[in-house]
Amino acid sequence: MEERKTLYSAIQPTNNLTIGNLIGAIKNWLNLQNDYDCYFAIANMHAITVRQVPAELRQKTLSMLALYLACGIDPEKCVLYVQSHVPAHAELCWVLNTFTYVGEMERMTQFKDKSLRHAENINMGLMDYPVLMAADILLYQTDVVPVGLDQRQHVEIARDVAQRFNNAFTPTFKVPEALYMKVGAKINDLQDPSKKMSKSAENPNGSIFLTDDRDTVIRKFKRAVTDSGSEIKYDPENKAGVSNLLSIYSAFTGKSVLEAEADFAGKGYGDFKLAVGEAVADRLTPIQNEQSKLLADKAYLEGVLRSGAERAAKTANKTLAKVYKKIGFYQL
Ligand code: TYM
Repeated sequence: MEERKTLYSAIQPTNNLTIGNLIGAIKNWLNLQNDYDCYFAIANMHAITVRQVPAELRQKTLSMLALYLACGIDPEKCVLYVQSHVPAHAELCWVLNTFTYVGEMERMTQFKDKSLRHAENINMGLMDYPVLMAADILLYQTDVVPVGLDQRQHVEIARDVAQRFNNAFTPTFKVPEALYMKVGAKINDLQDPSKKMSKSAENPNGSIFLTDDRDTVIRKFKRAVTDSGSEIKYDPENKAGVSNLLSIYSAFTGKSVLEAEADFAGKGYGDFKLAVGEAVADRLTPIQNEQSKLLADKAYLEGVLRSGAERAAKTANKTLAKVYKKIGFYQL
């Protein structure tokens, strides 16, 4: 029998997740969990690279797990765990730090962006963020990493560092490939479609949060920025707003962009925006209901995390032991 490939991804349990995270990440994972050995982490160690309120971080960790489950990620098929529960992540990160150059990290787009946004706290963790991410991925001998396009540079670094280590010693890490989905690899801000929809956008009307109720979702879509002209056509160069809405509609209804265009042929922007809002709200409401139900059962959620951490640690520790041996750490 052919060996199943390994897939790894993670989300930070910070702020409010947006439909960008849902489409760019979780929704794709659903389709992949049947075909790969999947590891999905809650990246709380990445989260503290910007200041968090401790009680909220704890709460959001459980909330994120409940969300994974509410979306249909199956803990029997996948390993679901919290990054800090598996110490090998921090341990491998330290070793990989010695195979990563300061200049490379200074050039990372996300580091530069975040340094501007958090000028009062440009900490070493923020700069080291891609190396921790490389450690996450490489510990599990990962074949594929499904992420949004904003993570491209970080997956590239994981590949570079893996190759560098493999070349310095003997092959130790599998060199992972990023997997970007065609539709929804980049969902943009509703108020400024030239920017990605983000958890931390300045104008909250630009982002649809997974916690937004139906009325809020529809109101935000009604206010979404469109473009000049009146045609509803997918043309990201000239019609960034309309194209973004078509991508969202397509991701939420499962229709192709062409089918989506056909649905709105001859219709005005008003009807179009309302229909996109309704399609999104129709999908979000049942997920939100299921998430609240799960959050009421803390014992179940903790059970999932305990078993996830055990399974993850088993794989991770194997890789770490190999690394320690190769770099010459004395073993007892
Ligand atoms: P995070 O938490 O910022 O985002 C989680 C995932 O959501 C995707 N995403 C988007 N996709 C499309 N459009 C958007 N507007 C949008 N916003 C976010 C992101 O690309 C990501 O896939 N560093 C990672 C978490 C992480 C990780 C890892 C990922 C830690 N370790 C190892 C993969 C492998 C991050 O910050 O994601």
